[in-house]
Amino acid sequence: MDNKIKKAVFPVAGMGTRFLPATKANPKEMLPVVDKPLIQYAVEEAIEAGITELIFVTSSTKRAIEDHFDKNYALESELEKRNKEELLEVVRGILPKGVNCVYIRQPEALGLGHAVLCAKSVVGRNPFAVILADDLIDGGSKGTMSQMVDVYSKYGSSVLGVEQVEQSETNKYGIVSSTPFSQKVTQLNGIVEKPHPDEAPSTLAVVGRYILTPRIFHLLQSVGKGAGGEIQLTDGIAQMLSDEHVLAYEFDGVRHDCGSKLGYLEATVEYALKHPTLGADFSEYLKNLKF
Ligand code: UTP
Repeated sequence: MDNKIKKAVFPVAGMGTRFLPATKANPKEMLPVVDKPLIQYAVEEAIEAGITELIFVTSSTKRAIEDHFDKNYALESELEKRNKEELLEVVRGILPKGVNCVYIRQPEALGLGHAVLCAKSVVGRNPFAVILADDLIDGGSKGTMSQMVDVYSKYGSSVLGVEQVEQSETNKYGIVSSTPFSQKVTQLNGIVEKPHPDEAPSTLAVVGRYILTPRIFHLLQSVGKGAGGEIQLTDGIAQMLSDEHVLAYEFDGVRHDCGSKLGYLEATVEYALKHPTLGADFSEYLKNLKF
């Protein structure tokens, strides 16, 4: 087993019902925040963490994702002809050299756990990352996955990215119960998918970042349907606790739930305000905006 995290799974086969009709024919992960699609932010976070193999679990309406990370000869030659050097660099830089993409189809949207299981044969026997692109995290100077790789390198256990949420929101997340382990790290005692606020074991919620050992595949194969009638990654992780330690890491960074309309709008405003060329004008626009 190679203990370096070199592979990341991007489950992008969900139906994105919260964003209909925008997501009827277009993948949710291709929604742009300012000028980059959500999936590109996720891929950049993975590459910053040293990951070189990107495994996308897709469905029939997600072809735009493959196209985004593929070479576009017609566009590049047109930009070359027009001497648009900067734009050419932007387009060519979407995927750095030495990074490979693999696409796997999830035939039916049976749940996140099932989507991860679809990547089993490509991941093999190594620990790997899972990144949900609709959770956009501004990690500041160090990306969230990079922070989590550091935790994994130190302890060698699966690591879940977690943050505190409002008690009223626990029914939207996997919620963990855990005991302190080291700074920002706790050790899981239990995990439950979308508990009612009155029954939640804590307010520490798993967001879309995971480093998992390959043991998870074995467990996902036998885990039945859980919350919402879907095969839940949370249920596989709950079973892992009888065999292995699992850690929860409270990452540094600001997360936006871009799978929800409000979270997406908040992300757009915050990223636009921070944008190197747009930020000042956009801030001015907001100041003058009359309600
Ligand atoms: P969500 O719970 O956000 O579901 O999935 P969704 O279908 O994308 O969106 P809504 O809730 O209907 O609006 C969390 C992540 O798991 C992936 C999604 O693409 C998303 O990144 N997923 C979910 C799959 O890849 N396959 C599935 O069967 C379910």
